[in-house]
Amino acid sequence: MSGRSRIAAIPRLSTVFPDAGALLMQVVSTGEEMRELHEGWRHHNEHVALVPTMGNLHEGHLSLVELARQHAERVVVTVFVNPTQFGEGEDYDEYPRTLKRDTQRLKKLDADVLFTPDQDTVYPFGIDKATLVSVPGLTRNFCGASRPGHFDGVTTVVARLFALVQPDVAVFGQKDYQQQLVIRHMTADLSLPIRIITAPTVREPDGLAMSSRNQYLGDAERSVAPQLHAALETIGVELQSGKRDFGALENEARETLQAAGFIPDYVAIRRAENLEPPDRDCDEIVVLAAAQLGKARLIDNIVVTI
Ligand code: PAF
Repeated sequence: MSGRSRIAAIPRLSTVFPDAGALLMQVVSTGEEMRELHEGWRHHNEHVALVPTMGNLHEGHLSLVELARQHAERVVVTVFVNPTQFGEGEDYDEYPRTLKRDTQRLKKLDADVLFTPDQDTVYPFGIDKATLVSVPGLTRNFCGASRPGHFDGVTTVVARLFALVQPDVAVFGQKDYQQQLVIRHMTADLSLPIRIITAPTVREPDGLAMSSRNQYLGDAERSVAPQLHAALETIGVELQSGKRDFGALENEARETLQAAGFIPDYVAIRRAENLEPPDRDCDEIVVLAAAQLGKARLIDNIVVTI
C-alpha cells in the first residue's frame, strides 16, 4: 500500500442501526477515492449498484436508489451534469445544480456513496480529446433525431461512470425509455459485466412524470402538462380495445397535444424491445412522446401489452 491515506470502506451497519445510513454516506469526488472504496467492497464480496444522475434529485431518482438497494450491498449515486449530452442552445448552463439538497436527501435514503466527479475526472484528456462511445441505429430517431449528439454524450459519460465505479448493477428510469434501451445495447455490445435495471416512472398525482425539467413550467403550463401522459393513456386504451391503425392514433394524439398548447416533437407507437414499427402481431408496445411546453421539453412513455 502506498503512503497515501486510504478511504476506509465503512461496514454496512444500517441494517442494525436504522439511522446509520445518514451517518455513514461518504461523499467522494476523485476516481482514486472511488477505486479504493471499490477495492474494499470487493474484498468483502459485496456487490455494487450504481445510480447515475445529473442531480436535482426528485422522488423519481430516489425510487431508483431504493431499487438499487434491493440489488446490491452497496449503492453509489453519481451526480455529474454531463456537458457532452447537451446540444447547442440547450439548458446546460441553467440545469439546476442542488448538491447540498441532493446530499441531504441521499443521506436519508441509505446510499453508501455520493460520487461527484468533476469534469477532469470524467474527461481526463478534455472533452475535445475524449474517446466517444456511440450506439448507432437505436439513436437515429425520436430524441436522437431532435437532439443530435445527445445519446453519444449519454453513452460516452455512462461508459466512463461504469469504468470509474465498476458496478455490478446499474439502474435507469423508464421515463427515459430510449436512453435505457441505448444503454442496454451499449452494455451488451461492449460485453460489460453490468446488469441494467429499468425502474418504473414515478408520477405526480395528476400523472405528470417526475423530471428535473418540470421546474421550468410556469403555473399555467404545469396545469396543462399532465395531458402528455393522458394522451399516451388514451392511445393505450385504444390499442387494448383492438385498434391497430397506429399512424392515425399517433396523429390524433399530436393534434390533441397541439390543441392543449404543446409543440409536439413526436408521438410514436413502437415495439417495446427495439423501437421498430410494430406489426399487427406485436404484443409489447411502447408509446413514446416528446413535446415542448413553454421552456420545458417534456418526454414520457407507457408500455402496453396488447
Ligand atoms: O438520465 C440522466 O440523468 C442522464 O442522462 C445520465 C444517465 C445520468 C447520464 O448523464
